[in-house]
Amino acid sequence: MKKVEEQGRITPYYIYDLSLLGHTLDKLKTASEPYGFKVHYALKANSNPEILRLISESGLGADCVSGNEVLRAIESGFPSDSIAFAGVGKSDAEITIGLQNDIFTFNVESTQEIRVIDDLAGKMGKTAGIALRINPNVNAKTHHYITTGLEENKFGINSWEFVEVLSLLQKSKNIELKGLHFHIGSQITELSVFKGLCLRVNEIQQFFIDHHIIPGHLNVGGGLGVEYEQPDIALIPDFKAFFKVFHEHLELQPQQQVHFELGRAIVAQSGSLVTKVLFVKKGINVNFAIVDAGMTELIRPALYQSFHKIEKIGSESEKGQTVYDVVGPICESSDCFAKRILLPELNRGDLLVIRTTGAYGEVMSSNYNLRTKALAYYTS
Ligand code: LLP
Repeated sequence: MKKVEEQGRITPYYIYDLSLLGHTLDKLKTASEPYGFKVHYALKANSNPEILRLISESGLGADCVSGNEVLRAIESGFPSDSIAFAGVGKSDAEITIGLQNDIFTFNVESTQEIRVIDDLAGKMGKTAGIALRINPNVNAKTHHYITTGLEENKFGINSWEFVEVLSLLQKSKNIELKGLHFHIGSQITELSVFKGLCLRVNEIQQFFIDHHIIPGHLNVGGGLGVEYEQPDIALIPDFKAFFKVFHEHLELQPQQQVHFELGRAIVAQSGSLVTKVLFVKKGINVNFAIVDAGMTELIRPALYQSFHKIEKIGSESEKGQTVYDVVGPICESSDCFAKRILLPELNRGDLLVIRTTGAYGEVMSSNYNLRTKALAYYTS
């Protein structure tokens, strides 16, 4: 178990291993650079300023899904012209932020959105770079809440709208089509899914080529999954294998660039949530370890029934293990981090670490029940 010292910190708290994040960024670079692939970091996974600083320093672009994320990315040192702004429902105010800052692309998801961006850009005397977010109808084989690339999902432009989009683009004087964008889902662990995406991208891009449009770049989104069950066996995802799939299966046009929008794979393993056992309560078949973190600090188990490894700090021994449900203090039965797991005997005051919470942990926290926001600390 990774050693995380308490050092008088108030629980619950997030702790980020900046040295692991640095190594992850190095590996990402060495895996993507040989192919000339450009990676945008998806801020939605973790927008903690310290994390963003390190990531922007490593030279990645940014993938944002709100006006505030665009502003945060710029404040954190990401160049404006490296920002892709995605999202199925951008408000006029958010589009204006993107235009004011001359971002790289709006990844547009509907014909109506193209019209609105064209109109707003015209009023500001600007040309908006866009990428068409296309719904490729590819099954990501992940949790249905984080599947985005099926026709039944709200995301992207469907193939039956392409002809309309092309004629609209010809009329839109303040829009420059820069690329095609795809994102089929998150926590994808089967690389064959990405191969399937590549084959679909090739087919879709052919439609545009047949209509004399060669997209400057293909943005194939994010989605690379991480190891939640046994984090220590894969602290850094296999970026080499991931990028190789795209290198082997995407049919690129001359000068065409490939962009990615990775979030989870970059930050998930660098974060842990530390929580204190408040009470241990004996149930009929199981003991409840009631801890001071809840779904307010980490909602993933309640929302997606996701698994996060939990360890007792300061105990290496497998002996004397007992079955526990680890639950939070919130008045909802879904406020449960793990059911029927084996842990060394727990007592009031013991500290637990909930692993692999660097992505979609702190960012999804809330102050439901008027809870105080957990602090974040860093190790390097
Ligand atoms: N690009 C777009 C357009 C996205 O919607 C997402 C994530 C990403 C990139 C980054 O995907 P990643 O590389 O992190 O898989 N809250 C959920 C995950 C939601 C993902 C939403 N979109 C969770 O906790 O599992």
